[in-house]
Amino acid sequence: MSLAFSKIGVVGAGAMGRGIVQLFAQAGSSVVLHDTQPAAMQAALGHLKDTFAKLVEKGKIEADAAAQTLARISTGETLAAFAGCDLVIEAIVERLDIKQTLFKALEDVLSPEAVIVTNTSSLSVTAIAAACRHPQRVGGYHFFNPVPLMRIVEVIGGPRTDPSVLTRLSDLARGAGHTPVVCQDTPGFIVNHAGRAFGPESLKALGEGVTGYADIDRILREHVQVGGQGFKLGPFELLDLTGLDVSHPVMESIYHQYYEEARYKPSVIGAQRLAAGLLGRKVGEGFYRYSGGNVVADPTLQEAAAPAAPTGVRAWVARGEHQAGVRSLLEGLGATIDNGAQPSPDSLIVLTPLGIDATEASRGLDARRVVALDTLMPFGLRACKRRVIMTTPATEAAWRDRAHGLFAADGARVSVLRDSPGFISQRVLAMIVAVGTEIAQQRVAAPADIDTAVRLGLGYPAGPLTLGDRIGPSRILEILEGMHKVTADPRYRPSAWLRRRAQLGLSLLNDD
Ligand SMILES: NC(=O)c1ccc[n+]([C@@H]2O[C@H](COP(=O)([O-])OP(=O)(O)OC[C@H]3O[C@@H](n4cnc5c(N)ncnc54)[C@H](O)[C@@H]3O)[C@@H](O)[C@H]2O)c1
Repeated sequence: MSLAFSKIGVVGAGAMGRGIVQLFAQAGSSVVLHDTQPAAMQAALGHLKDTFAKLVEKGKIEADAAAQTLARISTGETLAAFAGCDLVIEAIVERLDIKQTLFKALEDVLSPEAVIVTNTSSLSVTAIAAACRHPQRVGGYHFFNPVPLMRIVEVIGGPRTDPSVLTRLSDLARGAGHTPVVCQDTPGFIVNHAGRAFGPESLKALGEGVTGYADIDRILREHVQVGGQGFKLGPFELLDLTGLDVSHPVMESIYHQYYEEARYKPSVIGAQRLAAGLLGRKVGEGFYRYSGGNVVADPTLQEAAAPAAPTGVRAWVARGEHQAGVRSLLEGLGATIDNGAQPSPDSLIVLTPLGIDATEASRGLDARRVVALDTLMPFGLRACKRRVIMTTPATEAAWRDRAHGLFAADGARVSVLRDSPGFISQRVLAMIVAVGTEIAQQRVAAPADIDTAVRLGLGYPAGPLTLGDRIGPSRILEILEGMHKVTADPRYRPSAWLRRRAQLGLSLLNDD
């Protein structure tokens, strides 16, 4: 057990407050809980008793230990109950004025050395601290829901926070079995900032009509493979789980806090669906419909069966990093390879663009026969679950269907997109890396800590910097430059951190 603090107070008995109480009481600390609503405190105590009873039933903890843990938890009707606490953690409603009033009131009952932290997810820790007489003892402790299971906490320091406060908070978290990651007070800290790519870029692609949301979910779950792992949930499944009433305001808040930075621009689709009350699982309908906690099958979202594998297709593959690999795949799928310097008039034209769209890649070629294959992720014969192809607006349906049948001939599922710079996987992964490198560039936290926070906080197969290293910094740079060129949208401009490391052949985890 950590001795960083001896008696801990928690304000707010909601979802987060009760989780924080459980975490520290289980780690051996005495914890006092206060909420302005006595009923909320009683509900939290009832919930904690049930939780410990279940843990005992499952054999996770001994009955004695559960009883001792519960005995360490007390409640207080007023803030006076915190007298003698050397740490108070605030987890009340997400409103700056209410938090500032509370922090001021806490200073009246605590000794000047006691530490006060906020679990805010989107407000400025510095602005909350500004209301205090002793801002040097104020910091952020950003936990994730459910607190006992999400074993990561961002330990946030503002410009006036005493560094020793961050060390003590980190020690306490580590003693309770959590991984602390120290970061600077900036909009979204690490995890909510790094999360501004997966959902928003997918919404952007949806808004461009590239494909439907169910297909984007399938692509990010099945096509993306990083160290053998994809994303556990697609972006729209995740938005439904989190609730659009939580996610959309976070997207808007980070966008505005960064003074309308194009990288973080939210989607009008999110705003519309929020206005329509399509919040997600909690109301039974979001992007998907739910009944009894399960997704209701919707035939309109089912993937259409691939056309039968065509015979006698001649395929020409444009020059690119995977020309040989794509040729051998096509041969394995039953096509004849056209090895000419230019495609013959009856060949399917296969392109493998990075960052640019199929239209841009098909310059000088007969766009009616062009189909682009995403080669960023494994695409080999019987070596992938899903392949992703896209067409130009001029591609004829017959050539599209021939390519679709061909690429599905070994049993892989195939997504067929309308033209998009960076398909789906390239643009979403490149944006994750772009935002991650922006966070590193701002020195919000140490590079390895950024990756740890994102892996544990968002459950990605790898942190953004490691993800960029695995794909290759220069390929990520090429994708972003391609997207930037095609769209002229400043959203896609590469960060200086990425450009420099790609040019110098360094890891994205390299600090300087
Ligand atoms: N829910 C999450 O996933 C999550 C994750 C990370 C951070 N957070 C942040 O944690 C904080 C709490 O979130 P939550 O989901 O637990 O909220 P919640 O609505 O479940 O609970 C908030 C509790 O605070 C009490 N409260 C409100 N004003 C109070 C005051 N002045 N004094 C004492 N008690 C007061 C309410 O009665 C309520 O019981 C927010 O700042 C939120 O942004 C939430």
